[in-house]
Amino acid sequence: MPRPVVLTISTNKGGAGKTTTAVHLAAGLALSGARVLLVDLDKQGHCATFLGRDPAPRLYDLLVKERSLDELIVEVRPNLHLLASNSETLVAQDFARLRNAQADLLQHALLAKAVGYDFVLFDTPPQGLLQECAIYSADILLMPTPVDYPGMDGAAQFVQVVQKLQEREGLAPVPLYVIPMFVDLRTTESKYNLKLLQERFGDHVLTPVPVRTRMREAIAEGTTIFEYAPGEDIGAVYAGICATLRGLAAGRARPGEEAARG
Ligand SMILES: Nc1ncnc2c1ncn2[C@@H]1O[C@H](COP(=O)(O)OP(=O)(O)OP(=O)(O)O)[C@@H](O)[C@H]1O
Ligand SMILES: [Mg+2]
Repeated sequence: MPRPVVLTISTNKGGAGKTTTAVHLAAGLALSGARVLLVDLDKQGHCATFLGRDPAPRLYDLLVKERSLDELIVEVRPNLHLLASNSETLVAQDFARLRNAQADLLQHALLAKAVGYDFVLFDTPPQGLLQECAIYSADILLMPTPVDYPGMDGAAQFVQVVQKLQEREGLAPVPLYVIPMFVDLRTTESKYNLKLLQERFGDHVLTPVPVRTRMREAIAEGTTIFEYAPGEDIGAVYAGICATLRGLAAGRARPGEEAARG
């Protein structure tokens, strides 16, 4: 059975839209018929709450108690499975560090057991060992980037983190795509920073995600925008990015990948 394509949604800026994007890409891919596992690596446990569920120590149960993945995941929507997180995730990260866990931790503890999925998505915290492990394991990196100064700074830091990790681990570079966030093209700030991103990342800049109150409302209700406001343009934007990702996943070249990852 082919192994899943791993999408890591990350940047070093808090509040950049990582979880919103991870949840909507996971939900959008599942709606398009893919079998999806969404893994929450952040102690805030927001993947669960954004999908109307309670945070739970499932990542802790996997990494510390070594319980089996199958009994920890929950199907939260058709085709969409969640490995939830909560504050215990911080304990799991400390535990992993004390045991000198390597960057391939998620490869062994999770991905080797994630059988039958088309996609695994990692929602990460903005720093730390688990973020590093998710970068290590990614087939495609997705960097949500608010089009303002702090967002752009977080993106620059993230690119450096990725490069350092790849050098340290001897990994082949992994494709990194930018998702411009909270875009309002009526403002000079959005237009200016979007242009900077396009100059720096070229065709690796995906469709900008507009700033929308309906998205905040959907999240507060524990629903996706696809359910809360099906006609909203922002839902179509996320669905379009999902279609792009399916295309990238289908055509991705992976020469030497297994050797590089050991
Ligand atoms: N398109 C959007 N328009 C307006 N608000 C949005 C949009 N997308 C996300 N938000 C809001 O932005 C805030 C931050 O989003 P989110 O929690 O996804 O960021 P994050 O990067 O995961 O944060 P953290 O670093 O805390 O994990 C949330 O309050 C969310 O409701
Ligand atoms: Mg988050």
